[in-house]
Amino acid sequence: MKKKKILCVLTAAAMSIAMLAGCGNSSGGSSDAGGDTAAASGSGEYADKKVGVCIYQFADNFMTLFRTELENDLVSKGFSKDNITIVDGANDQATQTNQIQNFITQGVDVIIVNPVNSSSAAAITDLVTAANIPLVYINREPDADEEKRWADNNWNVTYVGCDARQSGTMQGEIIVDLGKETVDLNGDGKIQYIMIEGAPENVDAQYRTEFSVKALQDAGWEVDCLDDQVGNWDQATAQQLVANSLSAHPDTEVVFCNNDAMALGALQSIEAAGRTVGKDIYLVGVDALTEALEDVIAGKMTGTVFNDHIAQSHSTSDAAINYVKGSTNEHYIGCDYVKVKSDNAQSILDSLK
Ligand code: GAL
Repeated sequence: MKKKKILCVLTAAAMSIAMLAGCGNSSGGSSDAGGDTAAASGSGEYADKKVGVCIYQFADNFMTLFRTELENDLVSKGFSKDNITIVDGANDQATQTNQIQNFITQGVDVIIVNPVNSSSAAAITDLVTAANIPLVYINREPDADEEKRWADNNWNVTYVGCDARQSGTMQGEIIVDLGKETVDLNGDGKIQYIMIEGAPENVDAQYRTEFSVKALQDAGWEVDCLDDQVGNWDQATAQQLVANSLSAHPDTEVVFCNNDAMALGALQSIEAAGRTVGKDIYLVGVDALTEALEDVIAGKMTGTVFNDHIAQSHSTSDAAINYVKGSTNEHYIGCDYVKVKSDNAQSILDSLK
């Protein structure tokens, strides 16, 4: 299925404008900012509308940035803070399904779901559409069959997020950009790497794992996977995994992590093993967390990929606004990732302040 993408404003110079303007949305709905004062006093344009937001797990660095920005943006566009309820699925689908049922019982005007398991999307969609409530999925993309159902049935259901293949490719390109001579530290003609994956069922993890390595192969590089472990997007887990991996495989040349939280854990173990990023090992993540950007600037991480939580959360509130106003949305609202290396890390960091 060909996906329609909204191109965010990506150049470093224009980044701050993008931050102000948001990512835009596919159906041309206006943001209709209600103004901070009006929203704070509960008299914004959508102050009487109720929004239910289900996050797969609050203890996730990236989703914390996303939900915080989403709430602020909804309020600045005219919703009342009191009518926005954000709940923690605690990484348990049964818990989240109950939370969705509660939102339905409360009669909220729109439900935003970051699913615990994307494979539960069909069941979630059935529940929510049966109650005639519009639904916006975020961050964890349901599969193509599920997205096709929304279009076929003309349901008010959409997905806001990025295409994880792009982030994987960018991770690989960051390594390829260094040149094979540089990365192939032991000069055996192959790149020895370890891969630290996010969650098993997660499409972002699967695609980043596949496409990061594919970018090396597409450049004609031979690769040699020394270890592939699941770190569940978590820093402490990754730290332990990488410590084990580096001691079993001291010839590791590249550490690929599916996100920055895990890359930060990997960096702790790289340093504990007496290794130096940029000199005798290379390390890449995804998300552009502040700490990771600072590490890229300091040369302690080779690079990362900006997962634009600002554009994505703003597109999410725009989609919610369209639904509560009675208009529609495209069924896929995308946003581009941005490759981050030492030359643009500072400008990305500045744009996030
Ligand atoms: C990814 C992000 C990860 C994690 C995950 C949760 O897009 O890069 O850090 O938040 O989503 O589904």
